[in-house]
Amino acid sequence: MKERIEECFKSRFATEGVFYASAGRINLIGEHTDYNGGFVFPGAIDKGMMVDIALNSTDKVRAYSVDLDSYVEFGFNEEDAPSESWARYIFGVCREIIKRCGNVLKGFDTAFAGDVPLGAGMSSSAALESAFAFALNDIFNLSIDKFELAKIGQSTEHNYCGVKCGIMDQFASVFGKEGNLIRLDCRSMEYKYFPFHPQGYRLVLLDSVVKHELASSAYNKRRESCENVCRVMRENGYPRVEFLRDADMAMLGSIREKISDEDYLRAKYVIEETERVLTVCEALERDDYETVGKMMYLTHYGMSKEYEVSCQELDFLNDIAKECGVTGSRVMGGGFGGCTINLVKDELYDTFIEKACRLYKEKYGRSPKVYPVVISNGARKL
Ligand code: GLA
Repeated sequence: MKERIEECFKSRFATEGVFYASAGRINLIGEHTDYNGGFVFPGAIDKGMMVDIALNSTDKVRAYSVDLDSYVEFGFNEEDAPSESWARYIFGVCREIIKRCGNVLKGFDTAFAGDVPLGAGMSSSAALESAFAFALNDIFNLSIDKFELAKIGQSTEHNYCGVKCGIMDQFASVFGKEGNLIRLDCRSMEYKYFPFHPQGYRLVLLDSVVKHELASSAYNKRRESCENVCRVMRENGYPRVEFLRDADMAMLGSIREKISDEDYLRAKYVIEETERVLTVCEALERDDYETVGKMMYLTHYGMSKEYEVSCQELDFLNDIAKECGVTGSRVMGGGFGGCTINLVKDELYDTFIEKACRLYKEKYGRSPKVYPVVISNGARKL
């Protein structure tokens, strides 16, 4: 990939640049908990974005997406926003840096490419944002700390891409460390690395290759439901509930009549999911993968039936995993398509993959993509 980008960069800009990379992510458990102030448990993966970049002595960004063979130029003012969605990520990162640091950026040339599958729930967009946030911070000597780099990516999603996401993806993409998952408390932002080398098990993603058209608006709607439940709690005897993290099932029960059935189920899922992350962390400390797996199946049930962010293809893949005796399986990431993440015993791996691919193809006419997970480093200079 590096050679390909370098070649494109040289032929387009007739100069040499500097390389930066960042990563997509997996999440073992803790889904839709980040914007509820809860816990997540992600790790960076060996698939990411690579960026070649050099100053160009102008006041413009000249950006080339190698994968899409698309070229865009834009300035740094709000009204210069490009219409190409891929370029909005880069523009957004520039704008968010300017909002924090003033007019510190100068024109640059860049070519980039990636190998995170798009729309598969592995956070290709966070990888793009953090690669650029990291690169610009370094090139312009801005001394922005790593948390703020992650927040720059998150604000880019909020303000330039229309997704009111939490912090998990950008955090994992910036803080990722080879061989480690990271438990992040999204309220206090405390985090802890957990070495993850499950003896006798493998983690594998099965990509349903389904992409949901309205994923971002449905995502924002889920967030609104959670915020609504918190507001009703605050107005009904629990003034300190800022996030669903601050609530428990008894509190939710006490306002049951004041919210819709749908919002009740959404909140129930989030409250239980936050607990599950802690259960999984404890289980991992005693190498109890059976408990980890059970929690993953419960998460899938909740995401499918209560939070309603699964789809029939992902439910089908989850059912096959269960039938094959896979230890844990669930839909991963925002949902509405994308992958399941599966914790599989070594001896079951081949039969599971073979059966899942065969049955999925029989039913949906195409094979799921199979990605064995390698937990890797986050954003860095190459
Ligand atoms: C998307 C968002 C994250 C998180 C997950 C669900 O990936 O970008 O912030 O909410 O969905 O856990």
